[in-house]
Amino acid sequence: MAGKYKLLNWILPLVYQHTINSTTKLGLWHIEEPEEFFIAKVPLKRDVTHPHKRLQHLAGRYLLPTLFEDFPLEEILIADTRKPFLPDEQYHFSISHCGNYAAAIASSEQRVGIDIEHPTDKIFRIIHKFLNEEEKQLLNEPMSSSQLLQTATLLWSAKEAMFKWYGDGGVDFRKHLHIINTEGNNEEGKLHCHFQKPDSISLTVKYRFIKDLVMSWVVS
Ligand SMILES: CC(C)(COP(=O)(O)OP(=O)(O)OC[C@H]1O[C@@H](n2cnc3c(N)ncnc32)[C@H](O)[C@@H]1OP(=O)(O)O)[C@@H](O)C(=O)NCCC(=O)NCCS
Repeated sequence: MAGKYKLLNWILPLVYQHTINSTTKLGLWHIEEPEEFFIAKVPLKRDVTHPHKRLQHLAGRYLLPTLFEDFPLEEILIADTRKPFLPDEQYHFSISHCGNYAAAIASSEQRVGIDIEHPTDKIFRIIHKFLNEEEKQLLNEPMSSSQLLQTATLLWSAKEAMFKWYGDGGVDFRKHLHIINTEGNNEEGKLHCHFQKPDSISLTVKYRFIKDLVMSWVVS
């Protein structure tokens, strides 16, 4: 497998760290700390009124200098699309949060996108909104109901990661994001995809099932 990853001791908040290549790293944080812990290091640049959402927001930002010590948190700006970015692109980065977890990926050279999701049955209500007819076939293969839930969540998470990798918004998940096939097992693997906006770009989305989360990321 390319890159290095390690599952860290579950008593550490940084539960997973992955050095994807010499310029790109990914981390997953289990949020157990109070807001004060993060606020000591993270400048809060926008109002996040809901306390748990604020905690998630702070934890996502906190992760970035954990991956790269020199990450300039205070320089983060937020685009009209709500994508956070650094004006001089010293690092490309992407953040996701779900429940008590925050994930971040950063790269000094390549564009990145990340998403984490807890599989829940709610996904089946929105399948028609994000999968085209061909992609729905990926859910028609023989599998248990828990595998079906995991696979449907993975397909959603992969498209969210591609959406964030692109970052400019205006993406129709059925029309512009195409999942061609999946390769892997119930621990990790990859999806071969095409991003069709306006020309077709091939993208590989990597995934990992970790504890009760699906984590997907794109580096390209
Ligand atoms: C923006 C979006 C991807 C966020 O996903 P989410 O599951 O709600 O939340 P996550 O925790 O995974 O991600 C939130 C983070 O994404 C980042 N983000 C927000 N907008 C972004 C954008 N346009 N591009 C890249 N990253 C973005 C931010 O870092 C944000 O966290 P922060 O505000 O604390 O920094 C999602 O709200 C969205 O708009 N998805 C597209 C929906 C869509 O078009 N669906 C059509 C098919 S149903």
